Amino acid sequence: MDKRKIILDCDPGHDDAVAIMMAAVHPSLDLRAVTVVAGNQTLEKTSINALNVCQALDIDVPVYAGCGRPMIREKMTAADIHGATGLDGPVFAPLTRKLEEKHAVQFLIDELMASDGDITVVTTGPMTNLGMAMRMEPKIIGKIKEVVFMGGAYTNGNVTPAAEFNIIADADAAYVVFTSGVKLTMCGLDITRKVLCYPQIVERMEKIGNRASKLFADLMGHFCKSQKEVFGWEGGPLHDPTTIAYLIDPSVLTVKHVHGEVDIRSTESYGRTNCDMFGYQKKEPNMYVAENVDAEKFWDIVESCLKMYS
Ligand code: RIB
Ligand code: CA
Repeated sequence: MDKRKIILDCDPGHDDAVAIMMAAVHPSLDLRAVTVVAGNQTLEKTSINALNVCQALDIDVPVYAGCGRPMIREKMTAADIHGATGLDGPVFAPLTRKLEEKHAVQFLIDELMASDGDITVVTTGPMTNLGMAMRMEPKIIGKIKEVVFMGGAYTNGNVTPAAEFNIIADADAAYVVFTSGVKLTMCGLDITRKVLCYPQIVERMEKIGNRASKLFADLMGHFCKSQKEVFGWEGGPLHDPTTIAYLIDPSVLTVKHVHGEVDIRSTESYGRTNCDMFGYQKKEPNMYVAENVDAEKFWDIVESCLKMYS
């Protein structure tokens, strides 16, 4: 079976960390690189977090640091959820793994331009790196097989009533990507809020009894606690891994081909993803938007990935 080549652009972040763990180990995926962006925490911290996850599980994948702030607006972080380090909870061994020298934006351009057009770009943080790469070298657009992203919502946001974090954190970058013509699949809050990592899920994964399941449990220990403090939920929505689960088994999501836009003009609704789920506007569909998730299948996929680690 041909492996699907992917580049994972992320802002670790507890759920990003689980996405890295899954993408690195599943036999159907060829994780070419992890590129890092500022988002949940500063670029310095998200870079360290990505390196720590890769080092802890012997994930032999290059890590590239990218943009430390959004294209235009001021930087925002999500320390209330992910903590001062951006990955509060786990205790890692002293970090020896190093970042690649090349900037992530340049890496995206070089890797995509050298490819046969068979690379899927997965973004699970603000889209700054990808947006900048598209602006610097528009030819990469024709070289991207698909962009699968965690972000947005056709219902309510999680930063404002209108907007979800990854999009509002750099709505201008999202606008560049959304209007590029690249094939887009959106895993928004509408479905990620249906995969809440309840204590019984953490117990189920911890029982696997390997270093990946231990790391998962340590990550979720903090992530779920902060989600309860902020949102009052018993379990934290495991947002980012929905993108990887979809690539592993597309049947885990139900998607609808619709026209979607990001609002970069208004004030109260800045950063909202306006997905025309009923086709009112009669505009050309430009993205596949997830409208449902098979939660049982999702957790089975997560569990199967964690079990693949020694
Ligand atoms: O809104 C959820 C998204 O924002 C997730 O990707 C989380 O990691 C944060 O980046
Ligand atoms: Ca993220």
